[in-house]
Amino acid sequence: MATTRILSTSPLVGPSLKALGEKYPALSVLPYRSEAWSREMESAEALIVLLSEPLGEKDIVRCPNLKAIGTYSVGTNHLPADFCEARGISIVNTPGVLTEATADLALALLLAVTRRIAEGEAMVRSGEWEGWQPDQLLGIGLCGKTCGILGSGPIGRAFARRARSLGMRPIFWDRDGQGRPVDYLSDGENQIVGPPARRLPLEDLLRQSDVLSLHCPLTEQTKGLLGKRELALLPKGAVVINAARGGILDEGETMAMLASNHLGGVGLDVYEGEPKLHPGWLAAPRTVLAPHLGSATAEARTAMAELLCSGIEKALGRTS
Ligand code: GLV
Repeated sequence: MATTRILSTSPLVGPSLKALGEKYPALSVLPYRSEAWSREMESAEALIVLLSEPLGEKDIVRCPNLKAIGTYSVGTNHLPADFCEARGISIVNTPGVLTEATADLALALLLAVTRRIAEGEAMVRSGEWEGWQPDQLLGIGLCGKTCGILGSGPIGRAFARRARSLGMRPIFWDRDGQGRPVDYLSDGENQIVGPPARRLPLEDLLRQSDVLSLHCPLTEQTKGLLGKRELALLPKGAVVINAARGGILDEGETMAMLASNHLGGVGLDVYEGEPKLHPGWLAAPRTVLAPHLGSATAEARTAMAELLCSGIEKALGRTS
């Protein structure tokens, strides 16, 4: 007999889901799209899924009691937001608590690409390193360069602070128009002093970006935002970092621009169709590939679970 009120596909990280289960004993953890999960979802008042577990309109109509969908992510592109809104179903996500962790990961990719850390590490481990050489694994300096950031939300601004602390000049593009400068320095814990950054039309930003880092959500407006024409506007030798979502950047064109040396390097944490990878990436030069690790710190994942569980509780009409 289906009695589940809260159905999660994962125990999440930390104690929060377990604690929620103590308040709501009818909480089950079952694998996404397993037979049992499909059966139990029909009685669920709340579903909790991961960013890799899309739900469609057909799923929602099978859940007559559904009040909330929680996603263990800030991104909600895998959920039918308008459909849910029209039915009064809340979507609960985890903004804020993963901002710094995600910006750190984008910075880690940027430094790994520009300082050729993966190649160097492989050389040392191979036992073939013969010692310091004047021209060994020369990288790309960042100080004094311009860093174009797509998305002026919390993660874009947190990345801009990191870029600025490396001596780079951040500039922004976002979906909400141009003009207003972005005050990225006065939020977050690592405040630094300086002028706000310019917000530019996309083409202007691309022409100036020695580094381009993506921090916008995947929406109808950003899907396919960076294709051949846009990537060609970047200065020769530019480095592209994507820790946002696959599908914003055309991966085939990005590979072609690496092969032609138009791009100096690429760092990716996300991929269109992940975890399946475009096979070209495995042999792509000057590229660092991470397995969607943006929020993967113990602190961030614990805080995400806490925020998600309290949001679900609120949505079910019970707060403590
Ligand atoms: C990670 O990609 C997230 O959306 O939380």
